Amino acid sequence: HTPELTPVDSLPECAIAVDVLRATTTMATALAAGGEAVQVFSDIDLLKKESSAWEKEKRLLIGERGGAKLPGFDLGNSPLECTPERVEGKRIFISTTNGTRALQRIEKAKVVLAAAMVNRATVVQYLLDKQPETVWLVGSGWEGSFSLEDTVCAGAIAHGVIQKSKIRADEVAGNDELISAIALYCQWQDNLLELFHHASHGKRLLRMEGYDDLKYCSDMDTLDVLPIQHEVGVLKLNS
Ligand code: MLT
Repeated sequence: HTPELTPVDSLPECAIAVDVLRATTTMATALAAGGEAVQVFSDIDLLKKESSAWEKEKRLLIGERGGAKLPGFDLGNSPLECTPERVEGKRIFISTTNGTRALQRIEKAKVVLAAAMVNRATVVQYLLDKQPETVWLVGSGWEGSFSLEDTVCAGAIAHGVIQKSKIRADEVAGNDELISAIALYCQWQDNLLELFHHASHGKRLLRMEGYDDLKYCSDMDTLDVLPIQHEVGVLKLNS
């Protein structure tokens, strides 16, 4: 689903937000680098208000709109900036154009996860272990529209589950979007970075000298972390 196409009258057992470029990649990276938690906001003023209750040394503000860092924030949304020196032990307050909105759309599901290419294998393993009855993969897209990078990541997750559970592709009970996401992944799995060059947000980031981010975000299965929602809007590592 893109957020706008996500049903509003029901919720799945497990909802997975996907914003490969770059919010969920950044969240996974920040938690892998020792961040205490990631707290998600669509409203910038609310983020500023809530974060001000935290000691300065214990908080880090990540803010992005249109791919650029927001004034007054510590970092833009580049996962490469989330080094252990910067994030260790800190509560990360984050607001981005689309990714945080996707997470808020699904925040009431029983289980809420954040997935990207970097932690795909860990998400696949979680789904195999827990076998949730219904799973939504919610790509953030860009301001409501389809995005190649989120769709291919959804396909990569579904493909991983199918392969490891040895079910046949035609036995998958997915909607048309999922079937096409799997096909997209099968077509591009060895050339993800190239696919990201075709993506509209990939092009936007490249115009902003984001090549290193694109490369990092397209590398699959590099982080063994699972950001999972502990209370509404707050993600921590699954323990
Ligand atoms: C978003 O939430 O729209 C993205 O993560 C944008 C970005 O690349 O920073």
